[in-house]
Amino acid sequence: MKRLTVHASRDYDILIGEDLLAASGSYVTETLGKVCTLCVVSDDNVAPLYLETVVRSLESAGHRVHSFVIPHGEESKSTESLVALLEFLAERPLTRSDALVALGGGVVGDLTGFCAAIYLRGIPFIQIPTTLLAAVDSSVGGKTAVDLRAGKNLAGAFHQPSLVLCDCNTLDTLKPEVFADGCAEVIKYGVINDRPFFELLKSGIRDNIEEVIALCVRNKAAVVEEDEFDRGSRQLLNLGHTVGHAIELCSHLEISHGSAVAMGMVIVTRAAVAMGLCPEEDLRELIAILRKANLPTECPFGAEELAEAASADKKRTGGSITLVVPHGIGDSRLVKIPVTDLASWIQKGLTS
Ligand SMILES: NC(=O)c1ccc[n+]([C@@H]2O[C@H](COP(=O)([O-])OP(=O)(O)OC[C@H]3O[C@@H](n4cnc5c(N)ncnc54)[C@H](O)[C@@H]3O)[C@@H](O)[C@H]2O)c1
Ligand SMILES: [Zn+2]
Repeated sequence: MKRLTVHASRDYDILIGEDLLAASGSYVTETLGKVCTLCVVSDDNVAPLYLETVVRSLESAGHRVHSFVIPHGEESKSTESLVALLEFLAERPLTRSDALVALGGGVVGDLTGFCAAIYLRGIPFIQIPTTLLAAVDSSVGGKTAVDLRAGKNLAGAFHQPSLVLCDCNTLDTLKPEVFADGCAEVIKYGVINDRPFFELLKSGIRDNIEEVIALCVRNKAAVVEEDEFDRGSRQLLNLGHTVGHAIELCSHLEISHGSAVAMGMVIVTRAAVAMGLCPEEDLRELIAILRKANLPTECPFGAEELAEAASADKKRTGGSITLVVPHGIGDSRLVKIPVTDLASWIQKGLTS
């Protein structure tokens, strides 16, 4: 088992290993320093697989446990689920010295985290991520949110978890395409600033999963520690995401987030190659590793429609947009460009 400590406005530990669910009770007690009332939030795919193990472990550690199960999928990251969960907590009731436990992927984690941020003006919460994306990305960093009708993640808060328990065995029940989605974020960390990590990934992500998750988390934590509230360098984590979000929008969310990020990384890297900023060999390596992880690398949309979708994105500030541009694998940099230049950037990235 690996234990990492993240230094944020409040320090917390991330444990990564096998069979952690069955021991969750003692880790939670160790973290909270007492027994209390807990509400475990999960979704209807994850709950039948893992909820009982977690509840049993928490109860045998002396905690009183409620559970709240939402339908799986992004539609549950809604204000309706948020209010239903808040009302559920208030009826039990949970107090300020109690805590929430998020058992699931990023949807469960984001909803539970935001609920913990605002219930009684904030109570502790624990993340038990069960997707690769949640393990390497959404469970670390303290961003929590629900979606509004106008767009994703529009209502949220910064609220750090008290503990992240990442049981790698849970990843074995993921659908292959959900695992692949997480791989896009894993590969992203290598391209941003870690060439040796990228080399490790070439020998297989699942085969090295504990180390892979630990290195991703350490990487994200380092960026978050430097910029907890997303004002500057944290934007590096958006590699492949400006164009990726546009691809998701153009596909009416038919193309998954991970697939869109994979295509987005290829587009921005190919554009960098075309401008003489990045060696062509690095683009070839990126495409090869994405394909090995069963991710798509070619985008079905044109530059104009992508640029239009990207300009409407909330990351646009004034008349400019910040792109994360690889100058090579492990050396990505922020570049602010006029929004009017985006279409020509994307065009360079689409044509090989
Ligand atoms: N907070 C952040 O910093 C941050 C970062 C990245 C993404 N996100 C958010 O994360 C969400 C996506 O997360 P996700 O990709 O984990 O999606 P998800 O939570 O929808 O999970 C994907 C699917 O896998 C199922 N599942 C989860 N764990 C499983 C398991 N162990 N076995 C079998 N099935 C399992 C789920 O029921 C779901 O159907 C998005 O809402 C996104 O906005 C947040
Ligand atoms: Zn992402």
